[in-house]
Amino acid sequence: MRLSKKVAIITGAGSGIGRGIALRFSQEGARVVCADWNLESAQETAEMIKKQKAEGLAIKVDVSQEEEVKTMVAEAIRRFGALDILVNNAGIYLPDTADSATADSWSKQMDIDLKGVWLGSKYALAEMKKNKKGKIVNVASIAALVGFPQVSSYSAAKGGVISLTRQMALEYAQAGIQINAIAPGVIRTAMTKALSQDPNLEKQMLSQIPLQRIGDTLDIANAALFLASSESDYVTGQTLVVDGGWTIH
Ligand code: NAI
Repeated sequence: MRLSKKVAIITGAGSGIGRGIALRFSQEGARVVCADWNLESAQETAEMIKKQKAEGLAIKVDVSQEEEVKTMVAEAIRRFGALDILVNNAGIYLPDTADSATADSWSKQMDIDLKGVWLGSKYALAEMKKNKKGKIVNVASIAALVGFPQVSSYSAAKGGVISLTRQMALEYAQAGIQINAIAPGVIRTAMTKALSQDPNLEKQMLSQIPLQRIGDTLDIANAALFLASSESDYVTGQTLVVDGGWTIH
């Protein structure tokens, strides 16, 4: 059990990668707070955790809203008595180019995918500092590292996540807290549902992936598990790319 008795908050745990991480962490003994703005889907994940005979709690939160994030962290501590791990995973993808984005769509993308990571970290860090230990894992994207079509605001937000991860890692290293990011490649989730609807798009994606398959949520959950466990105690400020090799060429 690599996360025995650890308390972990996973944002965006109602679906896709977040749900995969929540289930993987609970298999390793963690008590998991499934946070999502879709409460019903967070509750479904918590139920799946309970079926694995582990503890799961669903919380409704919009990660871009400071008061809600503050309450999420307080509620996790009230219920489980501690906070050891935060995975800032919740995100949206609004396709745009620099000239098609609007001020509103740009702000929405930034508020959820970047400000949400900062807010979660802000309130988790306050607790982790007291305990002089903690792990934060932020979910970025390879769209922050290489070019893609239609990812203007998304790649800017995810690039910010990687920079913020490095910055916070430096600031909180002496407090005993490790902060890392994961940059997933193309992973089969609701966010990439266009793939299953368009075989040509899937073929085009596969042609970019040396390992010749679309990733699944377990690929990311296993990376998150490493970064959340004591196995990564000497790793901080890094971005772990999990992309089947997309970015090596
Ligand atoms: P998804 O759409 O399946 O899941 C996202 C979850 O986040 C949903 O449950 C949604 O309700 C929740 N969410 C969205 N906005 C929220 C908010 N403001 N507050 C609380 N919850 C909110 O997407 P997926 O693919 O699981 O994405 C998870 C993370 O992985 C995102 O940050 C995404 O940008 C990132 N990612 C995904 C990739 C992929 O290929 N699927 C590739 C690279 C990064």
